[in-house]
Amino acid sequence: MEILPLTGGLGAEIIGADIRRQTDFNEIQDAFAKYSVIVLREQNAEPADHLTFAQRFGPVNINRFFKPVEGHPEIAMVLKEKDQTAAVGEGWHTDHSYDQAPALGSILRALEMPPYGGDTLFVSMGMAYETLSTPMRKFLDGLTAVHSSRHVFGASAMDSEAAKSGRLGNAEAATQDVRHPVVITHPISGRRGLFVNPVFTTHIEDLSTAESDALLEMLYAHCLQPEFQCRVRWKAGDITMWDNRATWHKAINDYNGFRRLMHRVTIEGVPLT
Ligand SMILES: [Fe+2]
Repeated sequence: MEILPLTGGLGAEIIGADIRRQTDFNEIQDAFAKYSVIVLREQNAEPADHLTFAQRFGPVNINRFFKPVEGHPEIAMVLKEKDQTAAVGEGWHTDHSYDQAPALGSILRALEMPPYGGDTLFVSMGMAYETLSTPMRKFLDGLTAVHSSRHVFGASAMDSEAAKSGRLGNAEAATQDVRHPVVITHPISGRRGLFVNPVFTTHIEDLSTAESDALLEMLYAHCLQPEFQCRVRWKAGDITMWDNRATWHKAINDYNGFRRLMHRVTIEGVPLT
């Protein structure tokens, strides 16, 4: 297989691998650890292959807010119909940061793509952290942030188009607020990285509201430098996997009038320190 870095920041494209082959797994896993985002091109996979591949990394975490794929409760459907205007995941976020043990990663399989657009953007949170000044890193190192799903998947969000169209549901399960360090040590690589995101982080503890808001705004602006990013252009059949503990991502919603269908499997993580 051929592994081609996408940018100097993160991400790699993998050509010639097959997620169904056990013998390809070690090399894929190494690339995932190194690049945080891997794009496995031209996979001829079925839902069962998608699940088997995910389970090689760890147990599957079932997302409680996404509509599942029929016959496969472990696979979430990520869908935008041609007459819908809102896409799921348009804001910069980290999947499941509202969980006590945030997901290790997510594996997205493209089934139907628009003729153009519908790319996904990623940011390296390790690089974002490493490029902060030493005094700022020291200040952030002792802080804790609160994350929540209520304002995104809870009752107050249920008048959104995504909820009304049945793509999201189970609002009553959106009750948890959790605390994570603002800077985490990656459980596998040991690399330090920022772990706050614009969608699910509500505030930083022990700061005033004004201080927390200003600090998060400064960090978010810092994170969005193009040097820390990569952009995945999809074709049907591609599978992209990202490290949830090392990245943010965002769905680009620029394909109104076309259908885009993905299947997502999410892998269990561990509490972060
Ligand atoms: Fe996401």
